[in-house]
Amino acid sequence: MKIHHVGVAVEDLEAAIELYTNNFGAELTHRASNEKDGLTAAFLRAGEAEVELMQPLREDTPVGKFLANRGPGLHHIAIAVNDIHQAIAEARANGLEMIDQEPRIGLHGTRIAFVHPKSVGGVLTEFVET
Ligand code: CO
Repeated sequence: MKIHHVGVAVEDLEAAIELYTNNFGAELTHRASNEKDGLTAAFLRAGEAEVELMQPLREDTPVGKFLANRGPGLHHIAIAVNDIHQAIAEARANGLEMIDQEPRIGLHGTRIAFVHPKSVGGVLTEFVET
């Protein structure tokens, strides 16, 4: 298992970027937004993995609702997989519930799929094809 990134929900993206770069020496690698999902994100290099800081663009969005219900903090972990279709098939065969039955394009421009947190001990889990 290889951690690709961890996703953190934040209220103020610029402040969060400064927090990670000033305190932990993280390096901002890229930013991306998704109008449909209503979020803007920044990716910071952290050794072999990354930290994905996510700020909602509106309250009525998945990350906006997460912030309203649970406050800022860890939102998901992402696992690197070689073949997204195979990862989805194996997860389903193992009895895990997928949120995404089919891959979609994530903020890295690669294919992703989310596993339901109730199948993974309460942790929203993302497959990222690399
Ligand atoms: Co992610």
